Amino acid sequence: MISIQDATIIELPKILDARGNLSFAEQNNQIPFEIKRTYWIYDVPGGEARGGHAYRKNEEFIIALSGAFDVIVDDGTNKKTFTLSRSYYGLYVPAGLWREMVNFSTNSLALEFGSMPYAPADYIREYDEFIKLKHNGSL
Ligand code: TYD
Repeated sequence: MISIQDATIIELPKILDARGNLSFAEQNNQIPFEIKRTYWIYDVPGGEARGGHAYRKNEEFIIALSGAFDVIVDDGTNKKTFTLSRSYYGLYVPAGLWREMVNFSTNSLALEFGSMPYAPADYIREYDEFIKLKHNGSL
């Protein structure tokens, strides 16, 4: 069963240059899946939270392109908070974890890559349902 141990920070290449630094990510390489979707979250008002849900199948990779925020992952038993604050690493979140994004700094920009196109049926948006699925072993 997927646990919070399966959510990992992945370092990205960082090409330092006096002209400005460059980082990159490729599918099936630094990002450990084929990318089917990307979206970004920005202009988050102070104190707001985003992304309180789990995915049944979608895997994702989250980068703080600008600013900082926390991603809280939860496997129904344990929780872990990852602070993302640099554009040269990202957080891989496998399917089957509850995750929430909080503590957005001013002007933060969260870039997310997903392994599936947007599919409302893939989302678990009720925490009680997530816990039930986790505890009966079907997620
Ligand atoms: P939602 O999943 O509720 O955001 P959060 O990550 O904070 O839980 O998405 C907000 C709205 O945006 C919702 O109406 C669905 C829409 N949406 C898309 O159409 N495509 C996407 O890829 C995403 C992530 C959201």
